[in-house]
Amino acid sequence: MITERVKELVSEIEQATVGNKEQLEAFRLKYISKKGAVTELFDNLKNIPQEDRRAVGQELNTLKNLAQTRFQDFQTAIENSADSNPEMLIDLTLPVAPNLQGSLHPLTIVRRRIIEIFERMGFNVSYGPEIEKDWYNFSALNFADNHPAREMQDTFFISKSEGEVKDDVLLRTHTSNVQVRLMERQKPPIRSIMPGRVFRNEAISARAHCVFHQVEGLYVDKNVSFKDLKDTLYHFAKEMFGKDSKIRLRPSYFPFTEPSAEIDVSCFICGGVGCNVCKHTGWVEIAGSGMVDPNVLENCGIDSEEYTGFAFGMGIERITMLRYGINDLRLFTENDVRFLRQFEGA
Ligand code: PHE
Repeated sequence: MITERVKELVSEIEQATVGNKEQLEAFRLKYISKKGAVTELFDNLKNIPQEDRRAVGQELNTLKNLAQTRFQDFQTAIENSADSNPEMLIDLTLPVAPNLQGSLHPLTIVRRRIIEIFERMGFNVSYGPEIEKDWYNFSALNFADNHPAREMQDTFFISKSEGEVKDDVLLRTHTSNVQVRLMERQKPPIRSIMPGRVFRNEAISARAHCVFHQVEGLYVDKNVSFKDLKDTLYHFAKEMFGKDSKIRLRPSYFPFTEPSAEIDVSCFICGGVGCNVCKHTGWVEIAGSGMVDPNVLENCGIDSEEYTGFAFGMGIERITMLRYGINDLRLFTENDVRFLRQFEGA
């Protein structure tokens, strides 16, 4: 009988769990205090027949030892736990937990930086539609009807017109459509930049993509000169690529500007000495630009005798690639986190 009770207690004590001081005290009262179960059994020993007493006594001693060992183990565990030692909650020697905050896309970082630089020069930001009419993407911008840029190989057409009048609907091939829309609805002075997505029917490769981003700028007012264009882009280059940057203008052609110039910036990787990025020329091309063609001003209802203007356009991908030394356009759209994580905190 008593042996049954001992077995019961052994298994109870073995399975007991104690997590805090209150439970520890309850354990002590229940098993090892003067009124506890083990003491009670010892008190009972005198009622055990003489011949069994020795064996039962040994069992009880084992039980008592078990209860005391368990009690001591629980006590040590509680004393060492963080709850009883608040300083143990912080282990200053551990490495910091990684901060998985996500990061801005490099194109977003660069777009925001471009906007910031021009906003400080008094430009505001305008947006326009990506699905556009021929007029805003081409005709108003002085593209001749047979201009090669209109052809299927460059432009994604949504619908082609049948008749004489060009009323095709297409995906815009540049953000210059926003210039036209702005000039149509706002009298000069106009000083605005236009960031946005553009589309061209090109095979995707390391250097070309069918979707990319541009920022265009337009400044129309009385007496806007070619010098204003140069000063503006020179200031931009210094802010964007470093204060020692130089710019150079190369004659170029765009239907909507006359004269037109390609803008190069001195290579900020090698400082102009020559490297892979600048293909050993010391210069990298960053933008197209020019004085707004009088025809374009007139197409948009602005008197070209009274007003002049300059415009420029640059590719955000190109500037991002130059700035971060990225050599493949496809990285921007693949969403590979190993690539994107490198811009955390940038
Ligand atoms: N729209 C031109 C392009 O997409 C860039 C440009 C804009 C050039 C404004 C001159 C002036 O290439």
